[in-house]
Amino acid sequence: MENVYIETYGCQMNFADSEVVGAILREAGYGLVQDLDAADFVLINTCAIRDNAEQRVRHRVRELRAAQNRQAGLRIGVLGCMAERLQSRLMVEEENVSFVCGPDAYRRLPSLLAQVREGQKGAEVELSTTETYADIEPVRLASNGVSAYISIMRGCQNYCTYCVVPYTRGRERSREPQTIVAEARALFEQGYREVTLLGQNVNSYRWETDGGRTAVDFAELMRQVAEVSPLLRVRFATSHPKDLSDRLIEVMASYANICRSIHLPVQSGSNRMLKAMNRRYTVEWYLGRVEAIRSRMPDCSLTTDVIAGFCGETEADHEATLALFRQVGYDYAYMFKYSEREGTFAQRHLKDDVPDEVKTRRLNEIIALQGEIALANNRREVGRDYEVLVEGESHRSRERLFGRTGQGKVVVFDRGDAAVGSYRRVRVEDCTAATLLGRLIDR
Ligand code: 5AD
Ligand code: SF4
Repeated sequence: MENVYIETYGCQMNFADSEVVGAILREAGYGLVQDLDAADFVLINTCAIRDNAEQRVRHRVRELRAAQNRQAGLRIGVLGCMAERLQSRLMVEEENVSFVCGPDAYRRLPSLLAQVREGQKGAEVELSTTETYADIEPVRLASNGVSAYISIMRGCQNYCTYCVVPYTRGRERSREPQTIVAEARALFEQGYREVTLLGQNVNSYRWETDGGRTAVDFAELMRQVAEVSPLLRVRFATSHPKDLSDRLIEVMASYANICRSIHLPVQSGSNRMLKAMNRRYTVEWYLGRVEAIRSRMPDCSLTTDVIAGFCGETEADHEATLALFRQVGYDYAYMFKYSEREGTFAQRHLKDDVPDEVKTRRLNEIIALQGEIALANNRREVGRDYEVLVEGESHRSRERLFGRTGQGKVVVFDRGDAAVGSYRRVRVEDCTAATLLGRLIDR
């Protein structure tokens, strides 16, 4: 039997895709190994969203030359967004890569690997308007047995002007709801207690039957998944603010097992920048959505993505982003410097004119502010009790466990008699900006 070693970079969707890849290759008779030395093929699932994500992968590919010198016949394949973006060019630029395979072509991996075994190079990069891998039961790689991802849709056609995803992941398409609910139910029966429904923009999920007369939208899908069991926590990512519906907020509020946590990428606090980014909402609209969430679910946690130094960003635009951060008070933020991507609208029509040192300074100001906000938010949690889903051992100490509150906040506590995969009440006693520290309290 030949063995495959899969390494994953990038977003949650890539981790979910690697689990689909694992299932396809296992079905085709390959072994999946956790140890590079036992592998015949290394598959690297990649991200193309910013240049530094690509540089990291290139560095790793070059580093693998040493392993190839030790193990003659070890072949390297690049999967995912970088494969789609660069196609065969990648095999010219990185000579030790034998094949590339884009995100919609994973069913062709068995034939691609067979071809590579014969000594050829190969590329499968066709995008699809229908592929959702709906019938494939993912192998749960590196799973804690408690939480799992379920991919509910693929692709994106929002065309934010900075973003390469519409080009690397193709048109938006939704997966049949019955297969999603069945996957959630199967996971629950296997002992899983949390699922995260994944898509680039889950709010535009839509499945139509009878020629469009009946449809399942995202709010309805959430309801169906939440009905699997009150003991199954349901999360989702990512929401585009322009499509966040009142009905979704209503469904979230009416199920205790739907987590009170929304990732709502804002990207900028300036209307001028939002327009240049083609986000199709204003700051006022965004704050209106935040208000709608908080008036229905006062305890709902909010997280975001933001880009510092987009084309034409002035000091006043940047100040507007800082002001919006203060106003919303996010629990967590993913913060990035703008990175120009080939083929996007911004690369073709806008000037990447904010000097790198200014981007860095603005990013650092956002990071520092967000650190203060997160710490202040966490301090308010001290003294409160939460129902925590125990997910595993703390990274620092085997004597301690960690879990999450329904708001998605990580809590670390002494192990006591708590079991991984169970729900326990924990009282928050202290915190850092990133973590709550607590203790088990009697049930
Ligand atoms: N440069 C910097 N950040 C980007 N993102 C997407 N494209 C770029 C880019 N070209 C960020 C956005 C998005 C997150 C996944 O990555 O904030 O929400
Ligand atoms: Fe990129 Fe915008 Fe689509 Fe998100 S919604 S993947 S930022 S184009």
